[in-house]
Amino acid sequence: MTLSSNFKDLLSDGVLTCWKSPANIALVKYWGKKGHQLPANPSLSFTLTEAYTITRVAAKLNEDGKGPQVSFTFEGDKNQAFAVKIEEFLTELSPYLDYLPFVSLVIESGNNFPHSAGIASSASAMSALALALICIEQQLTDEKMDDEAFYRKASGIARLGSGSACRSVYGGYSVWGKHDDFTESSDKYAVPIDFIPGKLFEHIKDTILLVDQNPKKVSSRAGQMLMNTHPFAKARYEQAVSNLSRLKVSIRDNDWDTFAEITENEALSLHAMMMTSTPGYILMRPDTLNIVEQINKKRKQNHINVCYTLDAGPNIHLLYPEEETEKVLILTQELKQYCSGGKMIHDMIGQGPENKQCK
Ligand code: PMV
Repeated sequence: MTLSSNFKDLLSDGVLTCWKSPANIALVKYWGKKGHQLPANPSLSFTLTEAYTITRVAAKLNEDGKGPQVSFTFEGDKNQAFAVKIEEFLTELSPYLDYLPFVSLVIESGNNFPHSAGIASSASAMSALALALICIEQQLTDEKMDDEAFYRKASGIARLGSGSACRSVYGGYSVWGKHDDFTESSDKYAVPIDFIPGKLFEHIKDTILLVDQNPKKVSSRAGQMLMNTHPFAKARYEQAVSNLSRLKVSIRDNDWDTFAEITENEALSLHAMMMTSTPGYILMRPDTLNIVEQINKKRKQNHINVCYTLDAGPNIHLLYPEEETEKVLILTQELKQYCSGGKMIHDMIGQGPENKQCK
């Protein structure tokens, strides 16, 4: 995108933007990469409401043209380690964002959820930063993108920072990775789903049961690398493609039972991949399994439409339609004993990122 002829004047006054972007929870999991930060299989998630990052970025002219200089604060504290990571990320982005060599960036970021809570913050953080960077580009160019192009570009940039982040630039459900049943889908960016979810899925809720709040022992990056030599990788990627086809139909046709079957199959398959990697590792904790056992038992006894999924960690995401809220609240009282400090976060599907100054 060509910069305006007066982009240096604009930058000397400073260009500012601020984005709030949520985390997301995957139903069909991305686990395994190919090429340059492309997914080995397609994935589908919905964006949350309560777990989000707010990122403010101020861009100023940096005359020497030697790449972006970054000052980064996280929740009010200077964070040099993060600043270095972000600088590396930004250097990688230079081919996509022409203004980067000419700026100094002051980035201030914070989450509304405790970072020790064991909730992945990379999706909300990287999507907020990507949206802010594209928003600044828009302020420095005469070629204005329409919304679709804006969010696709932001999604592609977010993907380079953290794969799952590319799905967080949209509200509701989104898909990342080429799949025949989603016409606009791409490996390079996520797109919103191309169908209307059934009533049960419109306002789907997610209560996150915090089993263990310590940082996980094996990072997503390291875990995904192990997929490169995993003996079951090919079968796993095929399973994800077929699960995504069936999941689409279940959400569209309001079929909770099939949705629950596929969602839980995806969660367990993700963790099975970790356990059968070389070396293998286990991110679930004994209380993760205690909760799964209780869900299996109690939902049958009490006829509750509820199922679970897991991220790359020990915490359980309880998923249920809005109308089951009362019954699920009773169930969570029984499950509280398995949560660290009795903690849980009541969340639900959300509208996606927000911005006040730009879009
Ligand atoms: O975005 P990454 O590279 O941290 O990978 C996250 C992968 C999972 O959260 C386990 C699944 C997903 O699709 O979000």
